[in-house]
Amino acid sequence: MRKEFASLAPEEYGALDFRPARDWMLIGVGDGEGENLMTASWGGFGFAWGRPIALCLIRPERYTHGLLLRERRLSLSFLPKEHHEAMRLCGTLSGREGNKSLRAGLHCVRKGNVPYPEEADTVLLCRLLYAEGMKKEDFCDASLLPRFYAEGGLHTLFLCAVEEVLVNRES
Ligand SMILES: Cc1cc2nc3c(=O)[nH]c(=O)nc-3n(C[C@H](O)[C@H](O)[C@H](O)COP(=O)(O)O)c2cc1C
Repeated sequence: MRKEFASLAPEEYGALDFRPARDWMLIGVGDGEGENLMTASWGGFGFAWGRPIALCLIRPERYTHGLLLRERRLSLSFLPKEHHEAMRLCGTLSGREGNKSLRAGLHCVRKGNVPYPEEADTVLLCRLLYAEGMKKEDFCDASLLPRFYAEGGLHTLFLCAVEEVLVNRES
């Protein structure tokens, strides 16, 4: 008997979580005595090199980009919806112009040298494993270039080992 396959749109298939849960996350990287938090919505989670990994796509012009290449450690934080405005601010201001977590009303704590906001309910502590800048000539679908890169640099792919997950049981 022939088996029938049902065809689903990717969004209908629950196991494929293309986006980080709840759409937005804060990427936290240490900056000497200070810290930088950047809002990101491009990325995801997967499995490679025998371990759980997180993927982030960061444009080279972000302050976070250089910090991450230097520090090689980061946090990915997920916050309750009430902190939406703070996350919007961390996705609009640049850490080059000062400590934006303070302006956003978020309170950073650290594990080792890696900062994350106390307001998070879930934090992934990660270590950078692999970073590669996208190249125009490597796009198999060239229509993405004018659509996403008319302004702004090509993203760098950051593949990170998820080393520890912190869950705030009070939230
Ligand atoms: C909802 C949202 C999602 C974003 N996602 C990304 C992303 O995935 N990658 C990226 O490079 N920039 C993303 N940005 C833009 C950066 O967060 C923004 O340019 C930020 O000011 C960079 O901060 P920095 O210069 O301190 O690193 C996003 C912004 C918002 C508001």
